Amino acid sequence: MQFLRSYWWLLALFIVMVVAAIIFIPGDFRKYDYPHAGNGFEWNAPDINRVPNTPAGDLIRYGNDIIANTAVYFGPKGKIAPISNGMNCQNCHLAAGTKPWGNNYSAVASTYPKFRARSGSIETIYKRINDCFERSLDGKSIDSNSHEMIAIAAYIKWLGANVPKNEKPYASGIIDLPFLNRAANPVKGKEIYAQNCQRCHAADGQGTWNADSTAYQYPPLWGNNSYNTGAGFFRVGRLAGYVKHNMPFDQDQKEDVRPLTDEESWDVAAYILSQPRPVKKFAQDWPDISAKPYDHPFGPYRDSFSESQHKYGPFEMIVAAKKRK
Ligand code: HEC
Ligand code: HEC
Repeated sequence: MQFLRSYWWLLALFIVMVVAAIIFIPGDFRKYDYPHAGNGFEWNAPDINRVPNTPAGDLIRYGNDIIANTAVYFGPKGKIAPISNGMNCQNCHLAAGTKPWGNNYSAVASTYPKFRARSGSIETIYKRINDCFERSLDGKSIDSNSHEMIAIAAYIKWLGANVPKNEKPYASGIIDLPFLNRAANPVKGKEIYAQNCQRCHAADGQGTWNADSTAYQYPPLWGNNSYNTGAGFFRVGRLAGYVKHNMPFDQDQKEDVRPLTDEESWDVAAYILSQPRPVKKFAQDWPDISAKPYDHPFGPYRDSFSESQHKYGPFEMIVAAKKRK
């Protein structure tokens, strides 16, 4: 007892150190939590300000500008052609596709051309860019030989030039969340939306235009000017993964502490996808139906789960059934 009385502070110090170690020792845990985030190296985008003043450099800068300000060129009042919904590529590929966890382009140059199950074919970067024009921007494809397409591709290739062939850096693209053991719930999602999203994206989900309505200040999450039903975000897993790691846009994002829980991210994504949006069918998609991802919301399927379960979950059993085959 005498011992404890004089050395209690040592014991207290020890406890404080253990707690601090648990809190501050960084993250191999987080890589464990995110098995799909890739185990590649951490990636930093090259600096656009160091691109030389050459014709090749101008092309890269032009591509960067189109990705950041797509609506100026291709939106409803676009100066090249009014062929898309007014969204910018960077609304979904944050900071012009340079942001870790923000659906960045780090793995594009290193992995394309590549086979994609959606089209059942080997896709070039140009084809992949046009996929987003037709689906995410609910628009028309642009000519692969146009100055604009060549510029966008030049920029994306320049961004990923520091990534070795076939490598996928840590936190590239969109990162899947662990599954819930229930279906994602649009009713719960509606409340989460009202509390966390509505102040920017508006109660009706239509976002807000900037003062001269040439582009969105806050992009729409559903409705006529949002992405169509053929887009990657129409899959709840893709949308939940993006929202979890990037929204609310004005709140601090730290890898181990995100503003939204996984559950909130799934539910708010379900709410967004329960709302109306442009319907566009791509009849040639998924030539091999067994390759459809767990959350592809349109049948026919190889398994016996409903479209609704493929849309909202629960997903564990869908994935398990697929593994058994
Ligand atoms: C509504 C959101 C949205 C918009 C707007 C959008 N994209 Fe995408 N894009 C996605 C999603 C979702 C994916 C798939 C990411 C995944 O599955 O990891 C994707 C994937 C891509 C990829 C492939 C990335 C990879 O690593 O395989 C490229 C390239 C791309 N988009 C380019 C563009 C371009 C260029 C524009 C503008 C013309 C654009 N996107 C606009 C959502 C969007
Ligand atoms: C402080 C304002 C703000 C809040 C709050 C906010 N967002 Fe966003 N959100 C943005 C902005 C700005 C962008 C576009 C980012 C860019 O272009 O750089 C965006 C982009 C998005 C996108 C991709 C583009 C699209 O239109 O589909 C989704 C999805 C999204 N937000 C969902 C949410 C959800 C869900 C919440 C609530 C959990 C939320 N946001 C809260 C400002 C906000």
